[in-house]
Amino acid sequence: MQIKIENLNKVYKGGSYAIKNLNLEIPNGMFGLLGPNGAGKSTLMRILVTLMKPSSGRVLVNDMDLAKHRREIRSMLGYLPQDFSFFRN
Ligand SMILES: Nc1ncnc2c1ncn2[C@@H]1O[C@H](COP(=O)(O)OP(=O)(O)OP(=O)(O)O)[C@@H](O)[C@H]1O
Ligand SMILES: [Mg+2]
Repeated sequence: MQIKIENLNKVYKGGSYAIKNLNLEIPNGMFGLLGPNGAGKSTLMRILVTLMKPSSGRVLVNDMDLAKHRREIRSMLGYLPQDFSFFRN
C-alpha cells in the first residue's frame, strides 16, 4: 500500500492544530510512526483509517483519494487502536 499525504491539516475545536501542513510519502513496506506525546500520531492514524476527516488537504492511498474511496480503502485496512472501537456502521 502506498500512501501520499498532501498539505494535510487537522484543527480541533478551539483552534489548535494537531497536524499542520503535513506532506509525506509512505511507500510499500513496514513502518512505525514515532514522535513525542501530542505530536499528532493518533490524529494522523485516525485520518488514514477514515475514522476522522482532515480539516484540509488530501490523502491518496494507492492513488485513490481517501475522501472519495472510503469504502474500497476501508476494505484494505486492519487497524487496532489504543482505545478499541468499531466503525460506526
Ligand atoms: N479530540 C480532541 N480535541 C482537541 N484536541 C485534541 C483532540 N485529540 C487530540 N488533541 C490534541 O491534538 C494534538 C495531537 O494529539 P494526538 O493524540 O494526535 O497525539 P499523539 O502523537 O497520538 O500523542 P500520544 O503520544 O500521547 O498518543 C495534541 O495537542 C492533543 O492535545
Ligand atoms: Mg496517540
